[in-house]
Amino acid sequence: MHRATDRGLVLAALIDYAQRMSDDRISPTAAFTGQTWVENGLSPANFGSALGRAMYWSTRPAQVLMRRAGAATLQGMLLARHSAIDTVIADEIAEGRVSAVIELACGMSGRGHRFTSEFPDLPYIETDLPAMVARKQRALDELGPHSDNHEVRVLDAFSSHGLFNLVAELRAKYSELADGGGLAIIAEGLMNYFDEATVRNLWHRVVPLLGTGVFIGDLHTRDTNSGLLIAAYEAALGAFVRGKVHIHFQDRAAAEAAMAAEGGRGELRSPADICDVREPASAKRVWILQMRTGA
Ligand SMILES: C[S@@+](CC[C@H](N)C(=O)[O-])C[C@H]1O[C@@H](n2cnc3c(N)ncnc32)[C@H](O)[C@@H]1O
Repeated sequence: MHRATDRGLVLAALIDYAQRMSDDRISPTAAFTGQTWVENGLSPANFGSALGRAMYWSTRPAQVLMRRAGAATLQGMLLARHSAIDTVIADEIAEGRVSAVIELACGMSGRGHRFTSEFPDLPYIETDLPAMVARKQRALDELGPHSDNHEVRVLDAFSSHGLFNLVAELRAKYSELADGGGLAIIAEGLMNYFDEATVRNLWHRVVPLLGTGVFIGDLHTRDTNSGLLIAAYEAALGAFVRGKVHIHFQDRAAAEAAMAAEGGRGELRSPADICDVREPASAKRVWILQMRTGA
C-alpha cells in the first residue's frame, strides 16, 4: 500500500510540474487518455500535449513490466474500452439503429475525427467543459476543413437541461433523427469520477432521448477491481483527477438493476466479448455499459 501511495505522490508532483510547464491547462485525465490514443495510432498527433506526454512516458516502464508479468495495466484497460466502444458504435450505425452521435466529456479523444472521416454525413457532436472544448476545436481546426456535421460544443454532462436541449435541437435539424431515429450518446472515462446519485440521474435523463439508439460508456465494478493492483491503480487515478474514484456497484447484476430502476434496458459486457483486445487481463477490469430505451 505504501509503495502505491508513494507512486501516487510522485505522479501528483509530476502532474503539478507538467501543468506549470504546459502551455495550456487541460484536464490531466484527458491529457493522459488523449496521449494514449495518439501513441496507439487512434488520434492525430496534435491531439496530444506536453502534459500527456509527461504522464504517458513516466508511467510507461511500470506498464511494460506489468504487461510482461501478465498483470492488468491502465493502458491495456483504456485501449480495450476505447476499441470496444468504437466497435459498438460502428455496428449500431451499420445496423441502422444510430443516425447521429453525441459524445459527452469527449476530451481529446480522436473518435469524432475518425468517425466523421469515415462517415462524413454522420452528425457527430462532441461535448465537454469550456477549456477542453476550446482546445479540441483548435486541434480539429489545425487538421483543416472537417465535416459540416462535426461540431464541438460546451455541455456540462450533468446539467439538468443541457443534453435535453441539445437533443431537441438535433432532432429538429436532422431529418434522419425525426420520428424516434436513433442517437448514440457516449460517456467514456466519465462515470467513475462521479457519485452514484449523479450517474443514476444522468441515466434517468438519457433514456428517453435515445430513440432506437444507445447510451454507451465504461464502468468499473467492485468485483473486478479488488486487491493490491487496484489500490495502485486507484492511487494513480486519484492523483490524475485529484479526487475520488467512485466504484458504485458490486457487480454487473447490481449495475444492470440500477439501470432498470432508472427506466433503461441496460447491460454490461466485457470488452473481450465485443472486439479483439490486446491485453485480456486488463480488459477484465472494465465493463462496457450499454443502455437502451425500455426496461
Ligand atoms: C478521463 S477524461 C476522458 C476524455 C475522453 N472521453 C477520453 O476517453 O479520452 C474526462 C473528461 O471529462 C470531462 N468532464 C469532467 N466533468 C465534466 C462534466 N461535468 N461535463 C462534461 N465533461 C466533463 C473532462 O474535461 C475530461 O475531458
